Amino acid sequence: TRTSSSGLRTPIVAVLGHVDHGKTSLLDKIRGSAVIEGEAGAITQHIGATAVPLDTVSRVAGSLVDPDDFDLPGLLFIDTPGHHSFTTLRSRGGALADIAILVVDVTDGFQPQTIEAINILQDSSTPFVVAANKIDTVAGWNPREDSPVQQTYDAQSDRARSRLDERLYELIGELSDHGFSADLYWRVQDFQKNVGVVPVSAMTGEGVPDLLTVLMGLSQRYMKDAMEIDVAGPGAGTVLEVKDEKGFGATVDVVLYDGTVREDETIVVGGTQEPIVTDVRALLQPRPLAEIRAESRFDRVDEVGAAAGLKIAAPDLEEAMAGAPVRVVRDRDIDDVVGEVEAE
Ligand code: GTP
Ligand code: MG
Repeated sequence: TRTSSSGLRTPIVAVLGHVDHGKTSLLDKIRGSAVIEGEAGAITQHIGATAVPLDTVSRVAGSLVDPDDFDLPGLLFIDTPGHHSFTTLRSRGGALADIAILVVDVTDGFQPQTIEAINILQDSSTPFVVAANKIDTVAGWNPREDSPVQQTYDAQSDRARSRLDERLYELIGELSDHGFSADLYWRVQDFQKNVGVVPVSAMTGEGVPDLLTVLMGLSQRYMKDAMEIDVAGPGAGTVLEVKDEKGFGATVDVVLYDGTVREDETIVVGGTQEPIVTDVRALLQPRPLAEIRAESRFDRVDEVGAAAGLKIAAPDLEEAMAGAPVRVVRDRDIDDVVGEVEAE
């Protein structure tokens, strides 16, 4: 299972923002910087999950993260689509998350789905950091691949720097208009009171080490209590998508946010008509660093622990519903669990 020695589960990080502001590119960059043999992540219109283990996070973050300072197993990223028609997918992803990245194109600024995302985060009290993306598009920008933002910032001409400053302050102003006191992340003392803004480029990787560092810090500090849950208890998750898989029939892609699920266990899945009670035939997991939706190669595993994205193959999943709960019954009464699923 993906838990650390101290029993903390992997924090779930939702990536939210307006269409084309660079959510998927940012995840691709995090993946790409880490995967030596270039395991390409396809850009999709669907919500997906990517697990990034701690040693990978610290490798990408470089000198900014000392893995010894953290006892988290890593981060599980959920990509969401920015297109306006995907409100339910966004709110599902936002509500599932422990923390979030709000991606905003520095040139484009706040747009309708940026505001929608911020409302989702506010309603679910999800701590978040703002990735002020596409800093490489600032006129006269002199990119430094994969560099921490302070270094790249210092290396710019005065004019490029002041153009970026202008946009960042506009962004901070817009956050303030929506009720969030925000500042550039290195000026933030208390991330519970202020939202940190991290200038990044998903294209050049500038600022990505900083973003990962802030995310690790946010999860470590504020999610610790929430994550000290019964990581070995019966699993609970949410269906992201129902999909036919060659050799398995209808399967569900699930984000497991609590407990564990094992092969052959009885589960209850929310359906279009009524809850489906079925037995797990196979648990399929993408390898760490692979996008659940893009990979046809899955590892078949006996047990999966939260937090993780996984595919469950079981009979009778044709009527399963995206967004519905998934519960492992284990030593509980089936009717109680069915009632729980019906109530959600
Ligand atoms: P949706 O999933 O459709 O909501 O979009 P998205 O937010 O995932 O955006 P995506 O990552 O697909 O990027 C949209 C476009 O912006 C692509 O053409 C990217 O190459 C480009 N892009 C993303 N990040 C950057 C960046 O940092 N710099 C530059 N120059 N282009 C970027
Ligand atoms: Mg995308």
